[in-house]
Amino acid sequence: MPPPSLFLAPLLAFAFASATTTAPLPTARTLVDGARGHGHRLKSKTFLSPPLSLRPGSVSNKWYTDVDFPRGHLALKSFNGELVDARGAPVPLHETYLHHWLVEPYYVHAARGGGGSDGERLPRANSGVCKGSLGQYFGLGSETRRTATWVPDPYGVEIGGGGDAPAGYEERWSLNVHAIDTRGAADKPGCTECRCDLYNVTVDDDEGYAGGLRCCYDQARCRVGADFVDGEARELFLRYTVMWVDWSDAAAAVVPVRIYILDVTDTALLDGKPDPDCKVEYTVEECSSENRAKNDCVDVKVTKEVLPHGGNIVFAVGHQHAGGIGTSLHGQDGRLLCSSTPIYGDGEEAGNEAGYVVGMSTCYPEPGAAKVRGGEALTVLSNYTGERRRTGVMGHFYLLVADDDEQQQAAPNNKQPSAPCFSLFPASWCVPAWLLGNLQ
Ligand SMILES: *[C@@H]1O[C@H](CO)[C@@H](O)[C@H](O)[C@H]1NC(C)=O
Ligand SMILES: *[C@@H]1O[C@H](CO)[C@@H](O)[C@H](O)[C@H]1NC(C)=O
Repeated sequence: MPPPSLFLAPLLAFAFASATTTAPLPTARTLVDGARGHGHRLKSKTFLSPPLSLRPGSVSNKWYTDVDFPRGHLALKSFNGELVDARGAPVPLHETYLHHWLVEPYYVHAARGGGGSDGERLPRANSGVCKGSLGQYFGLGSETRRTATWVPDPYGVEIGGGGDAPAGYEERWSLNVHAIDTRGAADKPGCTECRCDLYNVTVDDDEGYAGGLRCCYDQARCRVGADFVDGEARELFLRYTVMWVDWSDAAAAVVPVRIYILDVTDTALLDGKPDPDCKVEYTVEECSSENRAKNDCVDVKVTKEVLPHGGNIVFAVGHQHAGGIGTSLHGQDGRLLCSSTPIYGDGEEAGNEAGYVVGMSTCYPEPGAAKVRGGEALTVLSNYTGERRRTGVMGHFYLLVADDDEQQQAAPNNKQPSAPCFSLFPASWCVPAWLLGNLQ
């Protein structure tokens, strides 16, 4: 038996080779996890969204149905996307601000062709917590290039199982991309914060509404300098790479996780209301001169929310816009479950744009370290700098949670023969089950 390092080297090479040429390089975590868990069983495919047509100042916010996506019963392991131009070159955020993209499955009636009207589509949202909003399976914004979406082993987001589709229905995928072209914009931060005055929009039924999604809707246009008013439209695409393992691959022994999205604007529990009330976005006011004098210019927003099922958090990441300085999630007793902080760029190039949130730090708690009881009231916190007013900001938490019972079943479900072990100084080492399978 050669030492383990000789096994891993060809596997790592294979992991690189199996990715399509346009896919971003797998992160270190992907490689380590992939080599440990399922090696070449990890599959990867890169797709392009339909084109978005954007001229200087304009907004595109469309839902595309039946988009390209891996088919079959599988476990999703990651979803990475970025905006590219027609030549495939990454587009920096200071040219086109990626407000958000969302990916969500839905069901269509197979016999009626699936093309049909909205009435023939059945939504299939994630497991909670907001009802009617934030139902996506994956979704990020400007931070997309530098935020890990890797679902740690042995977990996966189960899709295409068929078992939970209503009779006669099939699964499809929808994609929403909200992008704002800020080339030549009179006020780039103002356009990305969807300030209504810059879009010449007034929201009649909400007098105090100064900015947010209701002012940067599809086809709205933000104010641009005279040289850009007649600027030509260009076509952009969301290029996205999905990684997965096939569910039928017993050696992968995937444990399914539930997806929950928490929102700091949901005050239903605090207000004693029965139904969640996720407003998705909020406004940060400029701090008072007294607070500024005291050097205390942080806008702290806090709420409480309950997960529909308890379990073990295996992945968590916050979502904030520019001005954000940190999010955190706490248990009922105050214990920290995850703290996720924005990463700001400091250059010009795509992925490192100065003044923009180009990534969010993520949490991968050790198994059992971030356990949530059923009915436990979690505290969601979102901090922004209050140095000036900002509209349309967000404070969300995206969680992957494994049910307690399923976790306990994972070991007996693994039908692999027991692995031979070696005592290799300084640590003992066992042949992983998947590798044993490959050798037979
Ligand atoms: C906004 O309204 C002002 C005044 O009515 C007008 O001059 C300007 O062209 C409008 N801007 C846009 C982007 O529509
Ligand atoms: C949020 O701000 C408060 C007050 O400054 C601070 O105590 C807390 O640690 C901050 N939390 C995060 C996650 O940034």
